[in-house]
Amino acid sequence: MSSLREHIDQNRLPRHIAIIMDGNGRWAQEKGQDRLYGHYHGVESVRDIVEGCAELGVGYLTLYAFSTENWDRPQYEVTGLMELLVETIRKETETLNKNNIKLHIIGDQSMLPEYAQKALQESHDITKNNTGLNLVMALSYSSRWELVHAVQQIAADVKAGKVDPDGITQDTLQSYLSTSAFPDPELMIRTSGEYRISNFLLYQLAYAELYFTNVRWPDFRKENLYEAILDYQSRERRFGKTSSQIQTETQEPVKPEQP
Ligand code: IPE
Ligand code: IPE
Ligand code: MG
Repeated sequence: MSSLREHIDQNRLPRHIAIIMDGNGRWAQEKGQDRLYGHYHGVESVRDIVEGCAELGVGYLTLYAFSTENWDRPQYEVTGLMELLVETIRKETETLNKNNIKLHIIGDQSMLPEYAQKALQESHDITKNNTGLNLVMALSYSSRWELVHAVQQIAADVKAGKVDPDGITQDTLQSYLSTSAFPDPELMIRTSGEYRISNFLLYQLAYAELYFTNVRWPDFRKENLYEAILDYQSRERRFGKTSSQIQTETQEPVKPEQP
């Protein structure tokens, strides 16, 4: 069977893909099952997409797994999700390591139960020297939390005389975000037919290409990922300039390297 993968231009891959993994609950309910059943099946998609990104050579994959607002869900769902999360991370760490994948966590980890914090830290430590795909799990994450946290830290550093308020630039703010070590995502995918950002990477997505699909997260597989990447590659990214400026820039011959 031919795959959409063959049509992807390897030279124009997004360096960073961010995904809002949505629709687990509806997927389960449509099958007459409990919402947690959907979350369990969502793990299969995570495995497939992580593998797909690693195979393609994508540098960074950020997965929105749990928002700070998700703490307000019914207690049994929150507990079920936490247990699933810890179990999955424990089980998958060896595979991540074997595939040279480095795990990062962003979000308000102080909200997580202690056993979850410990498991995440262990997995992070085990994979920290890997040099392949950077897998960023957004857990107990929200962009407004992140921005408030960054402002608090900048203010503290101003007070301590370490930062001059007149010298604050976009680079300064960026360096206080939990994503400071990663480039901004070029492609943001949301599954399950909702057209919103739900408090995800508000600052970092300033110029990302947004891709929405009706496919529910537990049904999302590599072919769906390839489709999103192809859609991304068909777009013209202008960054505020005009189309003809962009076309001239891309037509300019690449200067030969100096000997
Ligand atoms: C996404 O699926 C997973 C999490 C938010 C943890 P949902 O649980 O939001 O599923 P829907 O959107 O209710 O179908
Ligand atoms: C966003 O999904 C958060 C995650 C996928 C982890 P939600 O299901 O929580 O978002 P809303 O409530 O539909 O905006
Ligand atoms: Mg949802």
